[in-house]
Amino acid sequence: MPGLVSCPGGLIVIGLLLLLCSSSVNTQSEIWTNEDVQYGRLGSNVTLLCRDALDRTSVEWRLNRSSVLPWQHRVTSDGRLVLVHAERAAEGNYSCHDEQGLLIQTTRLRLGYPPGLLSISCLVPNHSLVLCSWVESVKTHLPALYHTSYRGNKSQVRMCVVSSPPQQQCTITDPTMWQLYHYINVTETNPLGSQTTIIQVKFHELLQPDPPEAVTAVGMVGYPMRLQVYWTYPASWLHDAVPFPLRFQLRYRPVGFSTWSTVESKASTLLITDALAGHAHQLQVRAQDEINPDSRWSEWSPLLQTWPWSDSEDDGGSLGVVIFLALFAVIIIALLSSLFVLMWVRQWRRDNVTRQELTSMLKMKSCISEPRLAHPLSPYRAPPLHQAIPPLAVCSIHNTLPTTSQESHHPANNPSGVSAWPGRCLPIDRHDGPTD
Ligand SMILES: *[C@@H]1O[C@H](CO)[C@@H](O)[C@H](O)[C@H]1NC(C)=O
Ligand SMILES: *[C@@H]1O[C@H](CO)[C@@H](O)[C@H](O)[C@H]1NC(C)=O
Ligand SMILES: *[C@@H]1O[C@H](CO)[C@@H](O)[C@H](O)[C@H]1NC(C)=O
Ligand SMILES: *[C@@H]1O[C@H](CO)[C@@H](O)[C@H](O)[C@H]1NC(C)=O
Ligand SMILES: *[C@@H]1O[C@H](CO)[C@@H](O)[C@H](O)[C@H]1NC(C)=O
Ligand SMILES: *[C@@H]1O[C@H](CO)[C@@H](O)[C@H](O)[C@H]1NC(C)=O
Repeated sequence: MPGLVSCPGGLIVIGLLLLLCSSSVNTQSEIWTNEDVQYGRLGSNVTLLCRDALDRTSVEWRLNRSSVLPWQHRVTSDGRLVLVHAERAAEGNYSCHDEQGLLIQTTRLRLGYPPGLLSISCLVPNHSLVLCSWVESVKTHLPALYHTSYRGNKSQVRMCVVSSPPQQQCTITDPTMWQLYHYINVTETNPLGSQTTIIQVKFHELLQPDPPEAVTAVGMVGYPMRLQVYWTYPASWLHDAVPFPLRFQLRYRPVGFSTWSTVESKASTLLITDALAGHAHQLQVRAQDEINPDSRWSEWSPLLQTWPWSDSEDDGGSLGVVIFLALFAVIIIALLSSLFVLMWVRQWRRDNVTRQELTSMLKMKSCISEPRLAHPLSPYRAPPLHQAIPPLAVCSIHNTLPTTSQESHHPANNPSGVSAWPGRCLPIDRHDGPTD
């Protein structure tokens, strides 16, 4: 219920003399005394004084240094300029000159309206802050100052601190929340007048937290109908030594559905158990002071879209496994075939070597019947490797135990002198040759 203390400035010209309500603040003259400015009401007959010319018979008026005045006007016998029904186009720098054209005085004219009632609204984001802001119901076109205060219906007037320009808001810190009613008093003053607007508010009903923050939702592995949702208290609610408890409302729906499901919680988390499996869900959370049911719910938090857990994730996983296995099989096959080729090449070489050995053995005939082998003058030259090996490769020692000293030192029994044991070394049948 707005109250009204009006003080209409009915004068045609206010000039530098500000006609204001007696209750107005003292500091207001600061904003408009630094210029030689006159203020007039739009649509009225505005009169400009040529102060030093009051005794002169004729003065000349110019606007913006031009002697052509575009606006309908008349100059009175005492040198005053009257602009009839002045509109904003009549604004500008007016100067009055004497008969010789010498400048007597310059005045800047600004036109507007006296203040009208304000439209005031207050926000209470937590128990220790009230923010009141206002908008003009009348566009005055003129600079204004605001004086603000508030009081509970049981207490004295207290300060609501006006913000720095554009002066459209004031702040109450640590309001007297416990009182049922409060009155907010905002007085706007401009050169043409002053207007007080008073509204009655109930802070406890205006109390409205900011929306919950950091809202997140996660699916639960193995539960395609569940969504675990988390959030935090709004940061603007947490600065009290002991924050007032909040209660929360969570609403959710599958994407494409128009109706919401709603659940309440006093904790900062909730488990949805009836999500639509395999569908994306939208969800939002809001908060309200838990112990004050008259207070407002916060705005909903920004829309969050999320998916419950689903098998399709698993399909993607098994597809990956299949691809991995296929790759693995290809690698194994490649490895095996190269191994096979390697072994084949090795086998082929070894066969070659064995063939050579057999050839050499055939050439040697036998270690017993071919004593030339050890003969330094033998025309046969076996490869050095085979020269050392022949007794092992082509002979087998049948008697490992010494028999007689005559036998053991018989040159025919140990032609190569490789074996330290005096066993007999007999030629081996070609078919009993070493096998791999
Ligand atoms: C403004 O001036 C015009 C012309 O001189 C006159 O007819 C009219 O009555 C004046 N209006 C006021 C409100 O004085
Ligand atoms: C009007 O006067 C003010 C100072 O009085 C000056 O700054 C401004 O430039 C002037 N404007 C015009 C259009 O002459
Ligand atoms: C005079 O100058 C002011 C700016 O100082 C401008 O707003 C106004 O339109 C001008 N008036 C005319 C008639 O040129
Ligand atoms: C404050 O307002 C309430 C509600 O209208 C009323 O009951 C109470 O008497 C008022 N207190 C004072 C001191 O006016
Ligand atoms: C509102 O504030 C104005 C200016 O501060 C003051 O004159 C007036 O008495 C106040 N009105 C109420 C109802 O508090
Ligand atoms: C109340 O809210 C304001 C603005 O969000 C914040 O700066 C202030 O710290 C909050 N105070 C408390 C006690 O929560």
